[in-house]
Amino acid sequence: MPIDAEKPMREVLIMFAITLLVLCWHYGFVVARPSEIARRVDGVPNYVIDYDITKSPAPKWLEGVVPDSSGKTGSAVSSAIIVNDHGSGAIDAFYMYFYAYNQGNTVLGQELGDHIGDWEHNMIRFKDGVPQHVWYSQHSGGQAFTYRATEKVGKRPVSYSAKGSHANYAIGGKHDHTIPGLNLPDGLIVDHTSKGVSWDPTLSSYYYNFKPSDGSFEGINNSPVAPMNFKGKWGDAQYKDDDKRQKEFFGFKKFVGGPTGPGDKQLNRTKVCPESDVPCVLRDKLVP
Ligand SMILES: *[C@@H]1O[C@H](CO)[C@@H](O)[C@H](O)[C@H]1NC(C)=O
Repeated sequence: MPIDAEKPMREVLIMFAITLLVLCWHYGFVVARPSEIARRVDGVPNYVIDYDITKSPAPKWLEGVVPDSSGKTGSAVSSAIIVNDHGSGAIDAFYMYFYAYNQGNTVLGQELGDHIGDWEHNMIRFKDGVPQHVWYSQHSGGQAFTYRATEKVGKRPVSYSAKGSHANYAIGGKHDHTIPGLNLPDGLIVDHTSKGVSWDPTLSSYYYNFKPSDGSFEGINNSPVAPMNFKGKWGDAQYKDDDKRQKEFFGFKKFVGGPTGPGDKQLNRTKVCPESDVPCVLRDKLVP
């Protein structure tokens, strides 16, 4: 189904946009739901906050928002939709999701890798108006599938956001990601996905054009560009080893720094996958 050349790009992006299924589960004392990207905490942007994650009860902003029955995250603008028009008919649409808190995986009974500020994304690559492939970000890597193979609601591919870690998967179930680039149905470090609450990122999103000529962002309808241009790690810094709050288990820390934001997600990538040590496999069958 090619894109109508006359249709404004925004309409097209919404037509093919990702539908997310998020698990807004409550565990420990915080929940890890979608959150406002441009929030300021104690007067500073949330990408550079210094906040004690162990403080109880958790503040409302750290909990995030459960999408309502329409899939909107209330007044919180929790996604950034970014378009990179490479020219000659190649367009990448990035759907980036923000969560104020990441709850790490539980490994052998230890919860590891908690952090403030979390970004995950899908990317749909279009060629001459036809969606070709979909990228699902997962931790430091991810998976790519043909658009044809993806589960869809109408024309919109479905992405399953994992409980706590928010890694994006194409199907529900268990996803072991102990070895980067090799997902297995079960194992040591496991993400869980299932049909949870439906989140429509287009209903509460900032919109941007990414200019491949100079790597700059154009914010549509006053979408703030500062959070996109921030290249550092979001959230507060990893607690030092001698900090009482920090714990270690086989070299893994309980509290770590957040991930980098949209501006560091290889928006100008040539392959569907970002450059990495792992080969970019474009699968035409869905796997864990
Ligand atoms: C984006 O990629 C194109 C094609 O490889 C290249 O010409 C351009 O310089 C890149 N832009 C940036 C900002 O790196």
